Amino acid sequence: LDNGLALTPPMGWLSWQRYRCNIDCFNDPDNCISEKLYMRMAQLLVSEGYSKLGYTYVNIDDCWMEMERDPNGTLVADRKRFPHGIKWLADYVHSLGLKLGIYEDFGTFTCGGYPGSMFYLQKDAETFASWGIDMVKLDGCYADISDMDFGYPAMSFFLNQTGRPMLYSCSWPAYVVFNGQVPDYKKIASYCNIWRNYADIQDSWDSVKDIIQFYGNDTGSFSLVAGPGNFNDPDMIIVGDYGLSYDQQQVQMAMWAIMAAPLLMSIDLGNVKPETKRLLQNDGVIRVNQEFHGIQGRRIIKDNTFEVWFKPMSVDAKGGAFAFLNLNDAGGPIQVQMPLSKLGLMEGEGYNVTEGFTGKFIGTLKPHDLINASINPTGVWFGIAYFDC
Ligand code: DGJ
Repeated sequence: LDNGLALTPPMGWLSWQRYRCNIDCFNDPDNCISEKLYMRMAQLLVSEGYSKLGYTYVNIDDCWMEMERDPNGTLVADRKRFPHGIKWLADYVHSLGLKLGIYEDFGTFTCGGYPGSMFYLQKDAETFASWGIDMVKLDGCYADISDMDFGYPAMSFFLNQTGRPMLYSCSWPAYVVFNGQVPDYKKIASYCNIWRNYADIQDSWDSVKDIIQFYGNDTGSFSLVAGPGNFNDPDMIIVGDYGLSYDQQQVQMAMWAIMAAPLLMSIDLGNVKPETKRLLQNDGVIRVNQEFHGIQGRRIIKDNTFEVWFKPMSVDAKGGAFAFLNLNDAGGPIQVQMPLSKLGLMEGEGYNVTEGFTGKFIGTLKPHDLINASINPTGVWFGIAYFDC
């Protein structure tokens, strides 16, 4: 969507994976969906050093509303859990230099059963603008997928008409895929800034691996429509939750960087182990993810449980980021020897190659020189290659 937003993949925090629809503020006041949660995460984005690296969106997900609209048809935030209302929360988030995202659903209800935007798209777009919202995620529960073809574009139009720039995140293609069809990604990219096209991430390695396979298969060539203003969204970052080993956390970060994916962490930012935080804040990961061409990396080799992924970081094979993935969950590290030529890097004078996480200089390698990598089970070797002339 050409609205000046998401020129690189958006970065920030989103409540769903970690906090779900926990509305029990009586028994679980620190983890329930409430203004306090979003305020605390906003503060932590700043105080823990995330925001200065680009993690600036604080995104509300499902279960923030009252069960009924007000008599004028306007959405109302839950009066107990958001006693000051969303506009006040947006002002607070903005005062920290951050942005506020919100969640709605194209259908008659949200997935959690709260009022949906069906028949209220324009009204809700105007409400969000008047509250100072910066990103809108529009889910697709309780809707007919045949209505989405005009409904999601209609919301895009109404958001634009408010005059307030709001990044538009569409779940549209995910519902098309669940229905066994191949989405029209070009059309989706012309109306949405980012879009979910696959199942919800869960806090597990199986889930991360499954998403990577969907992106590797690239059915409908969705990788090709990625670029400034348009990004496929493989779902939230779970690095810092409970389900991944450190190697698997490295896989998620390297792969989300290579896939030019939104980096929306769904974790308790107040309780992140130091090594995990360093990974979330890793310079190589963020640089690759935010590279201005916004090209989505693709799987270029798949050999049983070994895969090679490459993300061009220029238009003319002058450099890129790559991942060697060991998806085997047995045994010890595998040893890989790989020439840059296999990645399509053919400049005779050679490339400066660094290890992506550490920035360690490997050498200036010519296309047929070998990179030697040792890769742990369910782990990754992440590299960056640049041609300097
Ligand atoms: C389905 C979406 O894919 C999730 O990310 C989350 O927004 C839930 N719905 C909320 O109900």
